[in-house]
Amino acid sequence: MKKFVQVLFSLWLVLLFGLLDGKPPHTSNRLIMDASAGQMFPSTPYYLMPRHHELGGGGIKLIKTGNSTYPNTILQYFPNDNFGLPIHLYISVISLLLIFEGIPLAICMEQNPACVISSVSVPIEGSGNPNSSRWLVFVDNSIQKTCVGTGGPEAHPGLLTYSGTFHIEILEKDPLRYNSYKLVFCFAGSDYKNCSYIGTYDNGEGGRRLILTETNPFLFSFFHIYNNSDGTIKSVG
Ligand SMILES: *[C@@H]1O[C@H](CO)[C@@H](O)[C@H](O)[C@H]1NC(C)=O
Ligand SMILES: *[C@@H]1O[C@H](CO)[C@@H](O)[C@H](O)[C@H]1NC(C)=O
Ligand SMILES: *[C@@H]1O[C@H](CO)[C@@H](O)[C@H](O)[C@H]1NC(C)=O
Ligand SMILES: *[C@@H]1O[C@H](CO)[C@@H](O)[C@H](O)[C@H]1NC(C)=O
Repeated sequence: MKKFVQVLFSLWLVLLFGLLDGKPPHTSNRLIMDASAGQMFPSTPYYLMPRHHELGGGGIKLIKTGNSTYPNTILQYFPNDNFGLPIHLYISVISLLLIFEGIPLAICMEQNPACVISSVSVPIEGSGNPNSSRWLVFVDNSIQKTCVGTGGPEAHPGLLTYSGTFHIEILEKDPLRYNSYKLVFCFAGSDYKNCSYIGTYDNGEGGRRLILTETNPFLFSFFHIYNNSDGTIKSVG
């Protein structure tokens, strides 16, 4: 019986991590641009929208899953033309004012609360604020996927959480489309060598979870948020 459990456990690990290609993210001196080909700036709000709207294409929101007390699981939800919640990208090299392909980033849903921005490469500690809006990954045993969420380990009771950095890779340019990108997650402490693509998984929650995957990376564009003079917010791309 013990053997069986061990076999199951290692199978489970293979399922969760064995498929990761583990390769470092692709880095270059190419700039990441928003959908209207504008330069992107750290700590500025952007909407993240899927490239293939026809497959169900809204932005990002947070839902409550498992035993979490607060909505701490990222969902790319289905209603088209719904931009969802903005994200903020933070870079660790303070002198860098623009976002280049492959550089380590922290992603936060909001500038506050408790988004660790001073040192992107420093992992979220165990004492992290469960309300932190910074992205991490957690292993959801119920669906056997490693999912993207927010908050510290306390926000995902009973589940393994890993902090790390996010990196943007450029999808080869398609002149008929907006700039589109892939997202890579690298486990903290791996010196950016233990990395995986972010893909999606439909768990019947009205959208798709963002998960670690080797195949089928999630393709998306960034939309800058403009404030109209009348005070309403719109996004141009
Ligand atoms: C987290 O947010 C909730 C709801 O806003 C609040 O009640 C709680 O005190 C916060 N917890 C911490 C540790 O900040
Ligand atoms: C969630 O809570 C239920 C009820 O307390 C418990 O049975 C279950 O094991 C918990 N799940 C995790 C992943 O800790
Ligand atoms: C990557 O990191 C995860 C989490 O720490 C670990 O389980 C896995 O074995 C690592 N993979 C490689 C190839 O080092
Ligand atoms: C839009 O402008 C209002 C008022 O100037 C400001 O409070 C709000 O934060 C702005 N929103 C964005 C997304 O820039």
